[in-house]
Amino acid sequence: MKKHYDITDLKLADDGRRRIEWAERDMPVLNHIKQEALKTKPLKGLRVAACLHVTAETANLMRTFQAAGAETLLVASNPLSTQDEVASALVAYYHIPVFARHGENRAMYYQHLQAALETRPHITLDDGADLISLLHKDYKSQAGDIIASLEETTTGVIRLRALAAAGKLLLPVVAVNDARTKHLFDNRYGTGQSTLDGIIRATNMLIAGKTIVVVGYGWCGRGFANRARGMGAKVVVTEVDEVKALEAAMDGFAVMPMKEAAKIGDLFCTLSGDLHVIDAPHFRLMKDGAIVCNSGHFDVEINLAALKKMAQKVRKQIRNQVDEYTVGRKKIYVLSEGRLVNLAAAEGHPASVMDMSFATQALSAFSVAKSKKLAIGVHEVSAEIENKIARLKLKSMGISIDKLTPAQANYLQSWEAGT
Ligand code: ADE
Repeated sequence: MKKHYDITDLKLADDGRRRIEWAERDMPVLNHIKQEALKTKPLKGLRVAACLHVTAETANLMRTFQAAGAETLLVASNPLSTQDEVASALVAYYHIPVFARHGENRAMYYQHLQAALETRPHITLDDGADLISLLHKDYKSQAGDIIASLEETTTGVIRLRALAAAGKLLLPVVAVNDARTKHLFDNRYGTGQSTLDGIIRATNMLIAGKTIVVVGYGWCGRGFANRARGMGAKVVVTEVDEVKALEAAMDGFAVMPMKEAAKIGDLFCTLSGDLHVIDAPHFRLMKDGAIVCNSGHFDVEINLAALKKMAQKVRKQIRNQVDEYTVGRKKIYVLSEGRLVNLAAAEGHPASVMDMSFATQALSAFSVAKSKKLAIGVHEVSAEIENKIARLKLKSMGISIDKLTPAQANYLQSWEAGT
């Protein structure tokens, strides 16, 4: 008989429930949407399979889908981000099947993804596009049953656009990451804060006065660079995109190639979404005691295989989340095995910002369920959804704003008036 869930320990459920309730306090927009959905049941009769980080915030999204009438299932989108207590509470208290164990190996990770697809979902959610990628490899025949797949992260959207560009995308996807209510807040303020949180929890290092090298100046890099500066670090940015590099320079950061930054950094954090942005030549140039970590989606940004090859000695877990590599006479420290440091060493983004990301997910799911037949391709989140979320978030923060007068609205639509 097939297992209905696969988690580490059901006995952790009480702790998980407390964490879910604590996060819920800080997710007023998602809560509002959940209360509406309880009445209108926009997902009635639909199966939703989500491949997301198994956190307290995600649990509240799953509860929203459940309230909306869906049969829901959750699997992990990363082996190190699963909060086992939360997985346990979802199963025990909320009757939502979860397939996720903290520290699961690659084989188990993919077994869990298979379990999700075997429920033949109508709507899927991904954080990094692994579930949909598996569907395109091994479950192609199910593509026609899927109303849409919603993608949470930049890396996932890049993969899906590549699939579409190759003419191989088999279903409609919604680029939730690209909504302003997602990346302007989650990627920038969420990653900015949670990455520092992970680094500090893993190392207890003082940020003030340190030289921190930020690899990549997308929304995540911008957020992290600004928060590191706010705590007194001297921030160096490396980039390959001329416009972003210029923006970093005009934002007041030092900008230089990695080969120069490698010599001066105390801490390096990759947020580029690309392969081996820290590689063997850079390790050779680093100072004794340099710390290296990643906050990009996949663990490919730091070439750990090269570091292992160069190292005479590797001491694992010299402290929780810290591995020590001896290279010649110096030590290099790697946090969380090069996986997302904000989720592996801390708890990911705070609930208050995931509130907006997951409200965007929930309303996108309701919208695709209503439209039923979307064209195959990559779709944007509508302005209507973005505006509703921003309006609700402002209200929850006690902020009111001005409205256009009729004359102003009219002016913005006219072309006649000029100099
Ligand atoms: N991604 C980043 N932080 C997260 C969180 N707290 N929950 C789910 N996904 C996340």
